[in-house]
Amino acid sequence: MGAAAIPTPQSGIAALVKSEHLSKVYGEPPLQTAVVNDVSVEIRPNQLTLLMGPSGSGKTTLLMMMAGLVAVSSGRIELFGNDITGENIAKAPSIRRHELGFIFQHYNLFPALTALENVAEVLRLKGFAGKSAYAQAKQSLKAVGLGHRLDHRPSKLSGGEQQRVAIARALAGNPSLIIGDEPTAALDTRTGQTITALLKQVVGPQRGVLLVTHDPRLEPHADRILRIEDGRIIADEDKHA
Ligand SMILES: Nc1ncnc2c1ncn2[C@@H]1O[C@H](COP(=O)(O)OP(=O)(O)OP(=O)(O)O)[C@@H](O)[C@H]1O
Ligand SMILES: [Mg+2]
Repeated sequence: MGAAAIPTPQSGIAALVKSEHLSKVYGEPPLQTAVVNDVSVEIRPNQLTLLMGPSGSGKTTLLMMMAGLVAVSSGRIELFGNDITGENIAKAPSIRRHELGFIFQHYNLFPALTALENVAEVLRLKGFAGKSAYAQAKQSLKAVGLGHRLDHRPSKLSGGEQQRVAIARALAGNPSLIIGDEPTAALDTRTGQTITALLKQVVGPQRGVLLVTHDPRLEPHADRILRIEDGRIIADEDKHA
């Protein structure tokens, strides 16, 4: 990892992400809708946590607020013990860069860059020098089965291949937390299993994974399942509690 001053996870941290009475409201009165409604939840290290719920229930919105990618309407978020709500959202990019791998539902790859460049660019932002960034990016893409697609731009990749570039990019540089929005949606069963195993390797003391999914194949791998409906957490099943 680079030598930049980073807000590292504090030792003995109980929660990688902590939300308190978190809400997101869209629209103007009287047509306002709370798409996330009073969510208080902690995402803990040492766990693969799944967030499951129907389409439109607020999953992506909740993940985006947890990562400081969307402003909250009310409530509070701590990311690695750092408040990132209100004007503190300015701290989020640096925390994301060094501690978080985010897999977007629609991948968000840079269209003008090759698969290799997409991953290497993120590693450079994390502080790795060019040569090492490219070597690690190559390794990361090989791990997701894309060693033969390094020089392809996203438009020349299948949906599942683009998804795997997004996963390689999130895993690169060993972040402490992976947040994934439907990371296996475009993958066949076998590839999905390989990717799930890779994501599970992230889980450890001080490190964790939070995945939004509709994929029941992921359920047996989870340590904890949160269920969301209409913007509210309606169930919290911790298999080890
Ligand atoms: N920028 C926005 N402006 C207005 N409404 C929005 C906005 N973003 C999301 N919404 C609404 O918020 C609700 C929740 O959206 P969200 O994307 O969080 O759902 P989701 O659970 O991730 O759904 P899916 O499983 O289909 O991805 C939806 O009804 C959506 O229309
Ligand atoms: Mg979504």
